[in-house]
Amino acid sequence: MGNAMGVKKNDTEEGKDDGEDDEDFDHKANNQYGKALMTQKTEARSEFAKTRTIAEQRKSLPVYGVKEEFMDLLREHNVIVAVGETGSGKTTQLTQYLHEAGYSVNGQIGCTQPRRVAAVSVAKRVSEEFGCELGTKVGYSIRFEDCTNDTTIIKYMTDGVLLRETLFEPDLDRYCAVIMDEAHERSLNTDVLFGVLRQVVARRHDFKLIITSATMDSDKFATFFGNVPVFTIPGRTFPVDTLYARTTAQDYVDAAVQQAIAIHVGQGVGDILIFMTGQEDIEATCVLLADRVSQVGEDVPPMLILPIYSQLPSDMQARIFESSEKRKVIVATNIAETSLTVDGIKFVIDTGYCKLKLYNPKMGMDSLQITPISQANANQRRGRAGRTGPGAVWRLYTESAYIAEMLTMTIPEIQRSNLANVVLLLKSMGVKDLLSFGFMDPPPQDTILNSLFQLWMLGALDNLGDITAVGNKMAQFPLDPPLSKMLLQGEEIGCSSEVMSVVSMLSVPSIFFRPKDRAEESDAARDKFFVPESDHLTLLNVYQQWTSNGYSAKWCTDHFVHQKSLKKVREVRGQLEEIFQQQKLHVNSVGNDWDLVRKAICAGYFHNSAKLRGIGEYVNLRSRIPAHLHPTSALYGLGYTPDYIVYHEVMFTVKEYMQTVTAVDAHWLSEMGPMFFSVKESSSDFHSKQRQEAEERRQMEYQQQLRDDLDRAAKQEE
Ligand code: CDP
Ligand code: MG
Repeated sequence: MGNAMGVKKNDTEEGKDDGEDDEDFDHKANNQYGKALMTQKTEARSEFAKTRTIAEQRKSLPVYGVKEEFMDLLREHNVIVAVGETGSGKTTQLTQYLHEAGYSVNGQIGCTQPRRVAAVSVAKRVSEEFGCELGTKVGYSIRFEDCTNDTTIIKYMTDGVLLRETLFEPDLDRYCAVIMDEAHERSLNTDVLFGVLRQVVARRHDFKLIITSATMDSDKFATFFGNVPVFTIPGRTFPVDTLYARTTAQDYVDAAVQQAIAIHVGQGVGDILIFMTGQEDIEATCVLLADRVSQVGEDVPPMLILPIYSQLPSDMQARIFESSEKRKVIVATNIAETSLTVDGIKFVIDTGYCKLKLYNPKMGMDSLQITPISQANANQRRGRAGRTGPGAVWRLYTESAYIAEMLTMTIPEIQRSNLANVVLLLKSMGVKDLLSFGFMDPPPQDTILNSLFQLWMLGALDNLGDITAVGNKMAQFPLDPPLSKMLLQGEEIGCSSEVMSVVSMLSVPSIFFRPKDRAEESDAARDKFFVPESDHLTLLNVYQQWTSNGYSAKWCTDHFVHQKSLKKVREVRGQLEEIFQQQKLHVNSVGNDWDLVRKAICAGYFHNSAKLRGIGEYVNLRSRIPAHLHPTSALYGLGYTPDYIVYHEVMFTVKEYMQTVTAVDAHWLSEMGPMFFSVKESSSDFHSKQRQEAEERRQMEYQQQLRDDLDRAAKQEE
């Protein structure tokens, strides 16, 4: 179905670290019960109804019917693959069954989720079922946020968190069992965990591993773990009518809105779920829908329009579960495909797109792009309409697009994303040869090569591809390698405190608040923070001003800055400081000499360095690919444009825009990355030319050597 909608949009919004986009919660899980509760007037009675509801609900789940059978099988086998429809109770129940059967005497029960929101919300739900406070017997742990304590028995976490834990505890001794949930999502960390956990089960005979999947691709998992049994939880689904568009919509937001209105006026009761790609188009849809529905006519009943995406504040997220007399229209990302279960959905509108992380080895970077979904996604989306009764799905694409143009399954993330992080982690776990590491689907060689190269550039690997002391230190931080390198460099040159603030600011999305009706005012407020030569330092400036204003909430409001984001930054920063202490690194400051801070920043971004070519236009120094300053950059519209810059990432809209840019001194690039960059004092300087050639040769030799090593390893494999 082509790519008319193009590639675009906010790279920072979804899936930055651990996928983060979904939800598993369902606080008022059952609409009927929800309504029953509303009619009961007294608090006490409704409380009673609620507890009864939870116990009853647990028993009504499909997984409950096969509980004994499942537990019998688990007694005989250490690894089981469990398949079941979304909503059958895998995520919330299996952990509790294991506990009830006594496994937790020997350790914690862990359950991994590819998305952070899911880890949090499902832990919340299970703590309610368990009857404990969240963070006690039932808790969760996601990057930079640990909500567990010494008494925690059931721990939900992102797959990234468990992967990091294996770095410090290779046999995962603290766990008696791990449930790898949502395995069908094939997130990068889940895929790496597959390999790591296969070794754990080989070494530990007192360890249970359950892999759960919402789809039928379970045989592959079973084979990977040595033909382990596949347990199927019988599903309960109703028929869903599938309706296709006659032509693929040009503007899917508009098409979805039209469809939603058509359902609203033409169909009976039932809530609507619309699948969009991300925050931006979700917001656009909600606005447009509200607008159009008010135009349809007086006698059209109002609808309740509810967005849901990972960055939405959690109180807003919870609203989708509240019961309502009005028809609910939930506008979601693929968050709602398998992990989130809202009862009462009868109509699904499927745009046919999602946002996927894609790696471009040539450019050496990831970007989030709007991409057609796979058939597997499409069928999951359809399934959401048939959970509590018969339903219908409107696909805003043609049947032939579905058949001929959609992939059967989404390509696993490991085959389409940057692996620098994973490679560094595996290297620090002592995996020497990446090809002999048991990947279920090995990543492309080019990508491995590129990641090795990037790590070598950062000084994390030596010429033989072995991890260096710096690399080992870098691996201690739950950060992308460029950022951990920056921190270490900052420490070395005496400005780790400032770099720490910069790195923390980079790890949260949307610092600046820009309400549509006060755009000019908020832009002006933002401009006041600008440090002309650097967006990174602009962020630092914001953080430092907030700090010197006593972390004030009013200050945030006055300056159009999200207080919630800054609070998060402060937490992240605190945790980085803790790692510094553990690693016996120094938190040092340069006061106002921010040039040094820029120098440290430069050290992390060799692969993202660019040279001025035209007005606002740069070319990447290594790939020669052009990129532009974004109009919101502090460097944009400066009186001058610096010759050399480094940038955090590239975002695609109409063209490639660099996001978060810092001007650097050419000498820093040559000083800290002498293997790549030489400063040409004058073009006729023979020596510098010679030096440059030698450097290029060396670079090529290194790449060749890596390629040879990989080839050799591949041959040994065979
Ligand atoms: O993992 P699976 O999709 O098989 O199901 P689950 O997430 O364990 O959900 C089972 C049921 O628990 C859902 O249908 C909801 O009714 C309820 N639930 C909830 O009320 N709140 C949550 N956060 C998660 C689940
Ligand atoms: Mg689940």
